[in-house]
Amino acid sequence: MYAIIGGTGLGQIAGLEKMRREVVRTPYGDPSCALTFGRIDGVEIVFIARHGYGHTIAPHEINYRANIDALHRIGVSAIVAIATVGAIRTSFAPGSLVLPDQIVDYTFGRRATFHEGPENNVVHIDFTEPYDAVMRKRLAAAAARCKVELHDGGTYGCTQGPRLETAAEIRRMERDGCDLVGMTGMPEATLARERSLPYATLAVVANHAAGKASSAGGIALQTLLPVVEDAMTRVRTILAEFLRQAPAEPPAITQRPPARSRLKPTDPAARKRR
Ligand code: HPA
Repeated sequence: MYAIIGGTGLGQIAGLEKMRREVVRTPYGDPSCALTFGRIDGVEIVFIARHGYGHTIAPHEINYRANIDALHRIGVSAIVAIATVGAIRTSFAPGSLVLPDQIVDYTFGRRATFHEGPENNVVHIDFTEPYDAVMRKRLAAAAARCKVELHDGGTYGCTQGPRLETAAEIRRMERDGCDLVGMTGMPEATLARERSLPYATLAVVANHAAGKASSAGGIALQTLLPVVEDAMTRVRTILAEFLRQAPAEPPAITQRPPARSRLKPTDPAARKRR
């Protein structure tokens, strides 16, 4: 079963036939909300609203570990994350849909791994390609089949929020190679990889980033939600087509599973010294 993580403007999915809600608890705390099990055009999925159902949880306060662990515990096989973003690349007009293929992480102070603390081994994951290649291909193909424009590729820069960026920060991100800016892509993608869950993001451009094009004089916050809500109709079309074509079992993760680190000290005294 696929999981869909909904972002700003996607606290629920239009046309999701709801079957039941389930509260899942995890050793990392409580997820953003109860999981909603439902069907999109007859295909069963599980849905979670990243910011909670009333959009009450700020990006830096989301318990990403609990969200991903809850989805892993109920046995989902892959995750499609919906994310609202600003466009640094100005050819991405507000309302555009983008399938990012890379990430630069500017966040700080977030619990970004399952593998920490004295009881856990150190684990390093390969994160060269942060999004699952097969999932991305299938999403792009689904969009093409239903003739919804979806830009394939782009680097997502994840900022801490909740404030928006300064124009200088956006210029720096552009120099770093970022095409999109959002606040929730990390550590969500990392944690999905740590749990070996194929993960891809469908990004919805709500605005040009600070200082860019239509946001040269500032970001008109009141325009963001209507733009995103309008784009969600197209997101839903892509999702329905993606799910229709998806085989019963999604692909095994295309990257290697996490390997146990050889850097781990072998004796407890060495651990303490670190
Ligand atoms: N910056 C960061 N996150 C965002 C933006 C933005 O301009 N728009 C929507 N989410």
